[in-house]
This record gives sequence, C-alpha cells and structure tokens, in this order.
Amino acid sequence: MRNQKVDTYNYKETLTRNLRVGAMAIGLAFGAGLAHAHGDVTPQAVDVSTLKPLGPEWQAVNPYRDDKEAIRIGDSAFNQNCARCHGLGAVSGGIAPDLRKLDIAPETDEYFLSRIRNGVTRNGAVYMPPFEGMLSQEAMWAIKAWLETVREK
Ligand code: HEC
Repeated sequence: MRNQKVDTYNYKETLTRNLRVGAMAIGLAFGAGLAHAHGDVTPQAVDVSTLKPLGPEWQAVNPYRDDKEAIRIGDSAFNQNCARCHGLGAVSGGIAPDLRKLDIAPETDEYFLSRIRNGVTRNGAVYMPPFEGMLSQEAMWAIKAWLETVREK
C-alpha cells in the first residue's frame, strides 16, 4: 500500500508538470488575455479536455457525479487548489472545514458551487479566495465528484 501511495504521488508530480507545460503552450497560443484577467494570482492549470464540456451556463446539479474521469481530475485539482487549506485528501487539519463531511444531496450542489465561485470574505478578511475565473466550471464539479468518493459521515 505504502509503495502504491508513493507511486501515485510521483505520477501526480509528473502530471502537474505536464499540465504546466500544457498551460504554457495554451498561453502562447492564445496570448496573455486570460492571465491578465486574473491579476497576479496564479491559478493552477486543470486540464478538463477529457470531460464533457458544460458551456457557459452554471449548472445547478453536478453533471459529473460518479464519472470516473471527473473523479480522477477532481482529485488532482483539489490537491493543487484546495488542499493547502482543506488538507491533503480533504483530511482537514482544522484550518478550514472538513469537506469529507459535505452533504451529497443534489440540492446542496448549488451551495457548494457558490462557495467555490465566491469564496468567503467576512469583515474584509478573506477566509477563502473566490475561484470563479480561475477554475472552470468543469474543474469545480470534478472536485465535487472526487470529494464524494472520500466522504465521511
Ligand atoms: C485560503 C484557504 C482556502 C482555500 C485555498 C480554499 N478554501 Fe474552502 N474554505 C476555507 C475556509 C476558511 C472556509 C470556511 C469559511 C467560513 O468561515 O465560512 C472554507 C469553506 C469552504 C466550503 C464551505 C464548507 C461548509 O461546510 O460550509 C466549501 C464547499 C469549500 N470551502 C470548498 C473549497 C474548494 C473546493 C477549494 C478549492 C477549489 C477551496 N475551498 C479552497 C478556506 C479555503
């Protein structure tokens, strides 16, 4: 088991590197427009090209629930964008809520999405940054699909 874990992490590192290279290529192809829109924040590239595209409308219910490929992508996207606060593997170290306990009822999907899109700011302090414009809708739902696989009651 232990060895398998190590292998997974090496694989992830390679994947991350590949995604970065891919993102640079896209950046060169499309110019600096996207990067410019986000100021000095560095979003982590999430390659969602293997998922069914969702278009510009925000969905109310996760279209990728139980989708194997979405779960794979969501795992990596979570570790790159959310784990520094919510913990590796979503095992919270106490800084931020333990997302393994999130409700999985489809009616709660919209709440999840609004949290990621808007983040959480209270009295001028940013508890969680907004991810709208940094992560695609596809990436957000992929993260939710993965979170449901590590759910604990
Ligand atoms: C900078 C730290 C930070 C990062 C990065 C971060 N979060 Fe959060 N998140 C928080 C904190 C802190 C809260 C609790 C905010 C509050 O007090 O309401 C929170 C709340 C949430 C909630 C609401 C939980 C609940 O029980 O109501 C969700 C869902 C969530 N985060 C998802 C994510 C996802 C998905 C990512 C990655 C795309 C992410 N967060 C990245 C810090 C972070």
